[in-house]
Amino acid sequence: MSPAEKAPLRVAVTGAAGQIGYSILPRIAAGEMLGKDQPVILQLLEIPVEAVQKALEGVAMELDDCAFPLLRGMVLTGDPNVAFKDADWCILVGSKPRGPGMERADLLKDNGKIFVGQGKAIDEVASDDARVVVVGNPCNTNCMIAASQAKRLGPERFTAMTRLDQNRAQAQLAQKAGVALTEVDDIIIFGNHSPTMFADFTNATISGKPAAEVIGDDAWLQNDFLPTVGKRGAAIIAARGLSSAASAANAAIDHVRSLHTVSDDIHSIAVRSDGSYGFDEGVWASVPVRTTAPGTYEVVREGFDHDEFAAGKIAATNAELVEERETVKEMLA
Ligand code: NAD
Ligand code: LMR
Repeated sequence: MSPAEKAPLRVAVTGAAGQIGYSILPRIAAGEMLGKDQPVILQLLEIPVEAVQKALEGVAMELDDCAFPLLRGMVLTGDPNVAFKDADWCILVGSKPRGPGMERADLLKDNGKIFVGQGKAIDEVASDDARVVVVGNPCNTNCMIAASQAKRLGPERFTAMTRLDQNRAQAQLAQKAGVALTEVDDIIIFGNHSPTMFADFTNATISGKPAAEVIGDDAWLQNDFLPTVGKRGAAIIAARGLSSAASAANAAIDHVRSLHTVSDDIHSIAVRSDGSYGFDEGVWASVPVRTTAPGTYEVVREGFDHDEFAAGKIAATNAELVEERETVKEMLA
């Protein structure tokens, strides 16, 4: 006899007719995010504009045409209270991407207000066990704005995505060392999803040895590797004319899968700072975490010592997060 089937989980995705939406939805419906035995219901939010809702219908038609066995239903809506109703996971993508020559922080005033309303709606109608993942930029501070609106769901339910930066850093180190990607471990992003982020090569390993020893070129690590990872989003915009989408969707899948799966693996997630690693309490800073129960993490404190160079980088990215918090103080409840 086959084991009893799991009850479907409700996954709300905002900006569902956008670029990232188009890449992420088939992968969620295929079971790549929550498991190959986990049925899902997709609750898709888009702005209430006829042409955009029509595009959303097209996306849903394609999802139908994929005949995913795990996809048990779809809700298409322009109303956040419908999209987030009883949602178990809320993936907040919907917002403006930056264009060439802009920094992500330039989006704060426009995008920040989206997260006021959505944070409130999630708190009102999502499942008691809901988890919220912010992808829309600038994601750390947008996550802080959304979490500040919540009275029922605690701030530990709200995380922002720096997994794309971790994946980028892992790929850069593997390419430089000429090894398979799987040889690179413990490469963690500290701080903001912005050029100030610190991709901590000082604690990373390659084939079990310190990455700095294997690479043997501190100047490359400090002056090439860090800016390449920090400015990769801008490089993609310059090359493609559009911001990253397939890799961003892939990172969001990795973020949720890692956060949903109990394991000793350490991964980068921006969480509400409790002061660890010198980040100001209350900003959303990327740190190493380990998943202790589905959707629940602990910040890993052992094994990530920082020398003067690393501590300086962390102080700089913290200063930027504090400045962003100051910029949006009117949006914080
Ligand atoms: P896109 O413009 O292709 O799609 C965004 C969609 O969001 C649009 O369809 C738009 O109609 C919708 N939207 C706007 N406001 C909304 C609202 N209030 N509610 C629901 N939907 C809304 O953009 P994209 O390329 O999919 O990127 C989306 C966001 O993700 C951008 O802010 C981008 O900068 C960010 N991003 C973050 C990362 C990261 O690593 N954290 C990586 C890539 C992109
Ligand atoms: C990225 O890192 O690719 C995204 O945050 C998009 C951007 O604006 O850089």
